[in-house]
Amino acid sequence: MNVSGKTKVCFIIADPIEHVKTPEKFNDLCKENGIDAVMVPAHVHRDRLEEFVKGLSSMQNLAGFVVTVPHKSAMSHLCDQLTEDARCAQAVNVVRRTSGGHYHGYILDGKGFVAGLKANGFEPKGRSVYLVGSGGAASAIAFALAEENVSLITIFNRTLEKAEALIYNLKKEHPNINIVLGDHNPAGHDLVVNATSLGLRKNDPLPLNANGLTKDQVVADIIMDPSETHLLKKAKSLGCMVQPGLPMLNNQLKLMLSTLGL
Ligand code: ATR
Repeated sequence: MNVSGKTKVCFIIADPIEHVKTPEKFNDLCKENGIDAVMVPAHVHRDRLEEFVKGLSSMQNLAGFVVTVPHKSAMSHLCDQLTEDARCAQAVNVVRRTSGGHYHGYILDGKGFVAGLKANGFEPKGRSVYLVGSGGAASAIAFALAEENVSLITIFNRTLEKAEALIYNLKKEHPNINIVLGDHNPAGHDLVVNATSLGLRKNDPLPLNANGLTKDQVVADIIMDPSETHLLKKAKSLGCMVQPGLPMLNNQLKLMLSTLGL
């Protein structure tokens, strides 16, 4: 697809940006489907998101944004309207610019994550989940797993207050699910999920204590690294089934296009 004066533009906003896989996949999908749109990477510092978004408010050929680490929560506060999912998770990863110039926020990560798990043969219903992280992606995943009627969600996060806030919000929407605060030890849970950004950088420490992982546990990571993260390598070496981050993206790409009105 050639970019022309008629092409719709979508930015993917991230910091760091070099690792993102969405532009290649999104642009290939547009090409395959004859959609005249292009995704462009925008490296925007955490403190300058609002300035960036406001600066684009007059861009009429803007389809919207795809939003990733660390902007998912902050972007939800810049939207004029949120879906119910996004309101619960207080995070967005897709923002459509309407013809009237309004921003509508959606969170597709949770659905993408669960679809990836199911495609990998893991049925969440009735299972226990250990989730590390309490940012935008973690919230989306926690809500999507709760929707699947998991039996227990244990949440651990570096910043305790954020874990407590997520637990409070989850309990409000899902009073019948056991949702508790955990520590760095994921022992005894059927599904272990890293929803932090640890693993994006080569020298990052592991997000949890992986030494006690056992082969009956499934370990998932949201980091979109085609070569596995240290966590997944360690989990595999202990016999666990693993799920990398890419299925979460692959399972929401088509939905991303329609959500953006393309
Ligand atoms: P996103 O919205 O994309 O999920 P985010 O809201 O910045 O991004 O969330 C990142 C998650 O990774 C948070 O849970 C964060 O922990 P804090 O709530 O304590 O910030 C976690 N995280 C990021 N860097 C971390 C680090 N060095 N050690 C532990 N956790 C980290």
